[in-house]
Amino acid sequence: MKVRKAVITAAGWGIRFLPITKSQRKEMLPLVDKPLIQYSVEEAVACGVELVIIVTAQGKGAIEDHFDRSFELEHFLERKGENKLAEEIRRLSNMVDICYVRPKERLGLGHAVLAAKRVVGEEPFVLLLPDDLFEGQEAVLRQMLEIYQRYQGNIIAVKRVSKEEINRYGIIEPRKVAEHVYQVINLVEKPQPEQAPSDLAIMGRYVLMPEIFEALESTLPGKNQEIQLTDALAQVLQKQAIYAYEFEGERYDAGTPLGWLEATIVLALGHPDIGPKLREYLGGLLQRITYPEEALPSGVISREGRKGLK
Ligand code: G1P
Repeated sequence: MKVRKAVITAAGWGIRFLPITKSQRKEMLPLVDKPLIQYSVEEAVACGVELVIIVTAQGKGAIEDHFDRSFELEHFLERKGENKLAEEIRRLSNMVDICYVRPKERLGLGHAVLAAKRVVGEEPFVLLLPDDLFEGQEAVLRQMLEIYQRYQGNIIAVKRVSKEEINRYGIIEPRKVAEHVYQVINLVEKPQPEQAPSDLAIMGRYVLMPEIFEALESTLPGKNQEIQLTDALAQVLQKQAIYAYEFEGERYDAGTPLGWLEATIVLALGHPDIGPKLREYLGGLLQRITYPEEALPSGVISREGRKGLK
């Protein structure tokens, strides 16, 4: 069955990016010249998705405005002879049908996904966590959809992580079935490294069967008192197969200041207008400057201060 719908979760508080996320929505932080969430929407569209369902929360109206039509702006740009820019702005709002659902509480990722149940209905869908960005953009999700066609089960993206990083992710117990593909025997959310069944961590792309909703409805709060998608997937395992695709290439966690900076630099270096100049600038900068931590402006949350936030 063709996968026609994508769910993108944008309901979190952005705790790992405070204080900017106190009033600015994390999904609207710029990565070069687009907000973070636009990359996920474009990725879904590039993979053939026809309807995007964004799960939002209070105060996230800017996301809707971003993908909405702005006749005034288009008209203004055209009057100024900026036709190419006007066309780009129009493309943004015509890219795909988007609908928004807004759960009344924020009880975790699993709870946010469950909010999309009625709009998804009885069909498979892809789930994108917009913090996670991949080298080659849609290549990972495209590959997952191919694996889905072959295996007809739930598919999740995984990547090996270091021992120190294990307790930040959902971790799978794998059984290899093909090159880069594992059958999932079990999965556990953010275990301590000693209890982890492997070092293969779930990264934010999923192809899910509609049965996940039934499992989510009976999932009790788990790690961090949140309703965890990983716990619901563990329930699904009793009835359905789950496969994991170990992708190659980098993945960036743009939901943290460091990951966001890395993604920004990589994307900017690849940008046709900005890239060459930035490369030259960075080369010179690295030779000239080494910042001791004391030189940071006051108010910057140190790495120590952020520990334990994920
Ligand atoms: C979520 C999932 C986790 C997954 C991670 C990937 O965690 O619960 O299983 O490994 O995304 O980024 P979160 O980042 O919301 O804490």
